[in-house]
Amino acid sequence: MNYDSVMQLALERGFYFPSCEIYADAQAGFWEYGPSGVSVKAKFIELWRRELVRRDGMLEVDGAQIMSQSVFEASGHLASFADPVIKCRQCGSNYRADRLISEAAKIEIPESADLGDFDKTVLEKNIRCPKCKGEFDKARKFNMMFKVEIGPEAEPAYLRPETCQSIFVDFPRLFKTMRGKLPLGIAQIGKSFRNEISPRQSLLRLREFYQAEIEVFCNAAKLDDLDRFSEVRDTTIRLWINGELKAMSCQAAVETGVLPNRFVAYYLGILTEFYEKTGIDMARSRFRRLGEKEKAFYASIAFDFEVQTAIGWLELVACNYRSDYDLSSHAAKSKEKFEVLDDEQKVLPHVFEISMGIDRSIYTILEHSLRDEKENERIVLSIKPYLAPVHVGVLSLVKKDGLKEKTDEVYLKIKRRYDAFLDHSGAIGRRYRRLDEVGAPFAITVDHQTLEDNTVTLRQRDSMQQERIKISDIDSVLSASTAFP
Ligand code: GLY
Repeated sequence: MNYDSVMQLALERGFYFPSCEIYADAQAGFWEYGPSGVSVKAKFIELWRRELVRRDGMLEVDGAQIMSQSVFEASGHLASFADPVIKCRQCGSNYRADRLISEAAKIEIPESADLGDFDKTVLEKNIRCPKCKGEFDKARKFNMMFKVEIGPEAEPAYLRPETCQSIFVDFPRLFKTMRGKLPLGIAQIGKSFRNEISPRQSLLRLREFYQAEIEVFCNAAKLDDLDRFSEVRDTTIRLWINGELKAMSCQAAVETGVLPNRFVAYYLGILTEFYEKTGIDMARSRFRRLGEKEKAFYASIAFDFEVQTAIGWLELVACNYRSDYDLSSHAAKSKEKFEVLDDEQKVLPHVFEISMGIDRSIYTILEHSLRDEKENERIVLSIKPYLAPVHVGVLSLVKKDGLKEKTDEVYLKIKRRYDAFLDHSGAIGRRYRRLDEVGAPFAITVDHQTLEDNTVTLRQRDSMQQERIKISDIDSVLSASTAFP
């Protein structure tokens, strides 16, 4: 489905919409989740907890969003977390230099390239401001962190640009108090903030966004000793190698040296198994190893999990081998001890990171699930039942003859266990269409026969088939069909 159809669904069916939209000074890059979006997001997070956090026995934390300046001096973000920006001399518009060049001249320059590379290309290709055709100043670096001032003395601090910094800073306490043992995954869901130069495409490039991050602390000398690897040995992962897509088992990826060790292969394997359950079309996904100039400054090896969408390949997860970059930087600055014991040996753990963009994942799930069934004259969001914002619509065929009261009774029975939507008004066909659009896998209709034999019609979203079931069986039907796998 195309981007505009997803946007229309998002706006009309309560998935997401622009923040502060009633005011003229609303800023780009800030979006709100409506009730349907909140419901899908909560279920997506539950699936993430099941398939990654609990599966791997990780710890989960919930850190502060504002962190002290020292954190970002140590992490390198104050010095290095910057995008190249280029400003029009005539109208003052700012652009991200790499994007401007890509769009104007179809030349890809990595965002971390030397500033001179951008200036040279702008000059050579005579790239002018898309708004006023003015000439550009020289490119400069723009730090993407939001600075805040704390208290009456305006002490400087920053909104975190990635959730993982609290995991690194808290590591010594967590390892000790939770009786940690390497390898140890620590996970966090929360908001991060980046002052993007050109936020765009709703949930796809936001200034305030949700991350689900996992940092796995490990002994760098034992990256091939991981018993749990056997769980994913035969799991197929799709790797983009030298411009070609190769699907292979995790075992083959390690044996052929495509992946550096079993440790990395295991986490890419369980990540693949997680995304398979979201309903994203995995045939349109790949892990792509990033080149030297594409990697973040803290990563020594990086794979992006990318999915093909209507607007091109989209990075949903950054998988970064961060080595001991973060722990040694925080140890040096804070003088805290970050070494831990592993088999009686003191080691400074290395970190493998699985940094997931929740908003982009939700966009992709919607795009890959949305269908325009012209023959049935309906738009249907064929989302997995356990991720659906509404599990079931509960409808009265008509309001009169006691059907409204009977419908209310059915709704009351199920509304605490399921996301149920009660609807009494309008033509039944239109009510079914609305439920199809919001992705409700089932609709229950109460009619005159219900008053005689306590049965209802159960309609399935995907097949549109209808069957009669007893009211007393509704719970077992719904629980079997909407349970997480
Ligand atoms: N923690 C990695 C990232 O935010 O991209």
